[in-house]
Amino acid sequence: MEIVQTVCEMRRQADALRYQGRKLVLVPTMGGLHQGHLALVRAAGRHGDHVTVSIFVNPAQFAPGEDFAEYPRGLEHDCALLAETGVVDTVFAPPEAQLYPRGQEHQVVWIQCEAYTRHLCGPRRPRFFPGVLTVVAKLFACCRPHVAIFGLKDAQQYFMIRRLSEDLLLGVKIVGHATVRELDGLALSSRNVYLSVDERAQSVALYQSLEAAREAIEAGATDAAEVEQVMKRVIGQAPLARLDYAEVVSTRDLQRISTIRAGEEVLAAVAAFFDKARLIDNVVVRAPTQI
Ligand code: PAF
Repeated sequence: MEIVQTVCEMRRQADALRYQGRKLVLVPTMGGLHQGHLALVRAAGRHGDHVTVSIFVNPAQFAPGEDFAEYPRGLEHDCALLAETGVVDTVFAPPEAQLYPRGQEHQVVWIQCEAYTRHLCGPRRPRFFPGVLTVVAKLFACCRPHVAIFGLKDAQQYFMIRRLSEDLLLGVKIVGHATVRELDGLALSSRNVYLSVDERAQSVALYQSLEAAREAIEAGATDAAEVEQVMKRVIGQAPLARLDYAEVVSTRDLQRISTIRAGEEVLAAVAAFFDKARLIDNVVVRAPTQI
């Protein structure tokens, strides 16, 4: 497993591998690796024959006051975990000046996806998606993957990155990987390390709220506002949780819906703070064909 730290070297390696006819797979991460990331990495091994994992805590996707400074970092430990999987060929871990050579405050081109940003995390974290889309485009430009794998816990990010690749003709196949969960249902996240014992116990409310939404939709609920109330009630039972949102959107265009139509596929998504930890989770549900 090789560690590459410069854009120039990463491009040189990717170009040479492409020239040899190898199929390149990228797993973009911000480090703080857990079993959820490692599941993406193992899946990457099945999608191609050269796996690169990028590790870069992207400053542009954090607003002032968010957890950029505290975000878990530990390149050595992350690399040890990646080496144990036996499938990673390259770790791309550039310092900030490699991806933002003028400094991010002097960069003038940013990628936006306004249509998919109107709901869920979009209005609450206005810098987040331009920061993510722009850094993912940079990572694609450096690592030149044929395939890139993203976790579906960040569903809104996944849907946007699919459109990033399609709309800008980047030619990268975007693969979504199912959310990996603790035994009680909590979605694995690098931010779970922020939780106290009591917060950890109550954080399962996010998953429970989504299961309640799934049950309601599968039982024939058609009023999206009612399903949102179901999710809010469950999260309301966790006194340490401060709800950020509980919304139902269409998976077609990520717009809020009022009526869930028969056979329609929807995304029920929640975000809540446990003190400084902001956790997100979601479930995709198809309504019964006959309601
Ligand atoms: O999902 C993440 O870890 C990040 O948003 C990503 C895609 C690596 C971009 O920084």
